[in-house]
Amino acid sequence: MMQIHLHAKDISTVKGQTLVVFSKLSAVTAKQTESLAKITHAETAKALSETISDKIISGAASEVISFREARFLGFRNVICVGLGADNKLNGEVVRQAAAALCKEIKAVKSTEIYVHFDGVATGKNDLAAYLQAFVEGLQLTAYSFNELKTAAKKEKEVIQINILSKLGKDKAIVQAFHEGTILGTCANFSKRLGDMPGNLMTPTILANETVKAAKGTGLKVTVWDKKRIEKERMGGLLGVARGSAEEPRFIIMEYTGAAKTKKPIAFVGKGLTFDTGGISIKPSAKMEDMKYDMCGGANVIGAMLAIAQLKLKVNVVAYVASTENMPGSKATKPGDVHIARNGKSFEVNNTDAEGRLILADALSYASEQKPEIIIDAATLTGAIIMALGNIHTGYFTRNAALKTKIEKAAGTTGELVWNMPLVDAHVKDMKGTYADLSNTSSGQGAGSATATAFLEQFVAEGIPWAHFDIAGTAWACGNRLNYCSAKGATGSMVRTFVELAKQY
Ligand code: BES
Ligand code: ZN
Ligand code: ZN
Repeated sequence: MMQIHLHAKDISTVKGQTLVVFSKLSAVTAKQTESLAKITHAETAKALSETISDKIISGAASEVISFREARFLGFRNVICVGLGADNKLNGEVVRQAAAALCKEIKAVKSTEIYVHFDGVATGKNDLAAYLQAFVEGLQLTAYSFNELKTAAKKEKEVIQINILSKLGKDKAIVQAFHEGTILGTCANFSKRLGDMPGNLMTPTILANETVKAAKGTGLKVTVWDKKRIEKERMGGLLGVARGSAEEPRFIIMEYTGAAKTKKPIAFVGKGLTFDTGGISIKPSAKMEDMKYDMCGGANVIGAMLAIAQLKLKVNVVAYVASTENMPGSKATKPGDVHIARNGKSFEVNNTDAEGRLILADALSYASEQKPEIIIDAATLTGAIIMALGNIHTGYFTRNAALKTKIEKAAGTTGELVWNMPLVDAHVKDMKGTYADLSNTSSGQGAGSATATAFLEQFVAEGIPWAHFDIAGTAWACGNRLNYCSAKGATGSMVRTFVELAKQY
């Protein structure tokens, strides 16, 4: 466990176990061919001058050099964390550096850390932004999912991280620390929901956990059971739930941070707690990963918790459609036709293309509330993994203004997104033979776009809408993001959705 604190102090006034300073790459001048690292703390720089000239410390991004038992300035250990070149420094570099530091702290088994944060940036705005990113990076990396292991295996030690800055009492700096903490912990909340196995994260449990987490945040949570979902004519959600012994749930979250008359922004999430594929059953290999098929829902819930805790001055609603996709004796069969909430009929030609069916009702319901915009997140297609791997989240929108806002938000949070094409030809591919629509495409390829075209049939005209396919980025991104577990949920888009909400 890790606890992170911010103090308005200078490092020279404290003594303790481990001191953390940062190093940077110096700009190479015309005369030099190589440059030496710059250390953000003058005394440490002096003490390490030989190490620096020997290029043992280079200042490269995420480089970690530690000095054990150095007994320096009242600290036993010194850890030097690289931030790279100043002109390439950004929040994501800091987040990754925080992750590298976290791993080193665990390796040296230090439990009392003092971070000299002044000098990471000169301007206050930059310092605040990097402090927020640093705290996010620490929080995200500190996450572990051990609760299902027996007590002996659980880590008990509390690691105290003290971040020191002369500006530690400044309003903007305190707020940045606060935001980083909330965003990190809310993303971690989403990650836990994702990491829970299917038997322990059923639609009912997902709804209960949401109600529990929302207590005291000002969020209003309403949960619809199967009876109510039937009354609301959600034929898509019910059609998928037919094969399962677990009841579906429809989770509604409401946050009022602005005048009641102001239209809310709406988030919609796919909360498929386990996707076997249904009668069109998936192969066994890696089927266990399908516990992550509720990450769209989980991440929307995490974003809502963060928005409420940050008290953003905006109205936001969220709708999470939740069910299992199982091949029970009453399950939807290939060819079956159901009717979605908005009255459109669809034939189910592949019961594994179920995400679009449950989102159909959620998007219809969201549209009826006449929100300012609708944003949905779903682990919708394997095709998006073929297209973008686990690097970018693919998003689809036909609204240029919304696209600009999404790019701005993701630019701030460092979460990589890629705008994917959606055109009328994709819509044509989703026409049904016996019903209005088919849940599979009559064309070849572009599986993520045709899935989106299906979703579009349930969004009311005139409402700006974007769909985020997080199938590639919702889990197991540890190969490229040091602050993510090698295996496990990532909380992708939690931070970007909060940033997006700030723009309204
Ligand atoms: N949950 C899957 C998508 C998925 C696949 C997420 C792999 C993460 C990793 C979704 O319900 C699904 O099975 N989609 C099918 C659609 C197809 C049958 C048209 C797919 O992508 O193969
Ligand atoms: Zn599926
Ligand atoms: Zn699915």
